[in-house]
Amino acid sequence: MEVFKSIEPLQQALQKFKCNNKRIGFVPTMGALHKGHISLIEKSRAENEVTVCSIYVNPIQFNNSEDFKKYPKTIEKDIEILEKAGCDILFLPEDKVMYPEPPKVKFEFGALGNIMEGKFREGHFNGVAIVVSKLFNIVKPDNAYFGQKDLQQYLIVRQFAKDLSFNTNVHAVPIFREEDGLAMSSRNVRLSAGQRELAPKIFLALLLAKTLLLTKTVKETQEEIQHFFTPYPEFKLEYLEVVNKETLEIVSSVKDNKNLAVCIAIYLGDVRLIDNLFLFS
Ligand code: PAJ
Repeated sequence: MEVFKSIEPLQQALQKFKCNNKRIGFVPTMGALHKGHISLIEKSRAENEVTVCSIYVNPIQFNNSEDFKKYPKTIEKDIEILEKAGCDILFLPEDKVMYPEPPKVKFEFGALGNIMEGKFREGHFNGVAIVVSKLFNIVKPDNAYFGQKDLQQYLIVRQFAKDLSFNTNVHAVPIFREEDGLAMSSRNVRLSAGQRELAPKIFLALLLAKTLLLTKTVKETQEEIQHFFTPYPEFKLEYLEVVNKETLEIVSSVKDNKNLAVCIAIYLGDVRLIDNLFLFS
């Protein structure tokens, strides 16, 4: 695997592949890689001749400075994992390469950006859109892969890639889970042993919500899920929403509604975790 820290040599290397009509697949990440990230790399390898991964902890998408400071960094291990997974190129820029000066552009995503993560993490998706659009312009991939775990992020990236005519197809990859159901996340390493034992309750809550929604209203389901976490004071539920999984429109009834997802954001101690589950699939 070749590692590039600056833009020009990366682009020279990519140019050779592009001249030979090789398809380029791209997996942007913030590192602290786990099997969820690797499932994206594998999907890219299956569909492209060349796979590029980027690792960059993007400061402008963090609305909480503690979260940014504590974001896990495991770059040597990440490089080993990527080598093993058969990634061809790693782009590993520093801040001065990505942001020679602070960006001033502001994105607005309408209904896709105002709820859930957009509501509780102000400015987050603006920061994501700026870094992903810069990375798309640098790498110019044919295909880019995003996890369904961050459903709202995937939908927003897909939308702006279309609105801005990026020549990149944006794909979603299913959520990769631990055996006990916990969605893999770089932030999981920040959980204490006790919190890690409690963490699978998040997925259990989603499964419970899916069952409850067969007979109960969304409001009743939200109340029951709140009760479900009451015996465990380390959890602080931020939201549980039922949304259309394409438009993110919040629904109050699941009747006659197909294409729904139930989405959760919850604190376990000071670690904020998100997860989601498709209904009727
Ligand atoms: P990061 O959290 O490192 O995630 C990188 C990609 O891996 C995202 O598309 C995310 O949805 C996906 N991913 C994370 N956990 C997953 C899991 N358990 N199963 C499947 N896919 C999973 O998301 C970001 O970084 C950043 O916002 C980024 C897009 C890189 C922009 O900075």
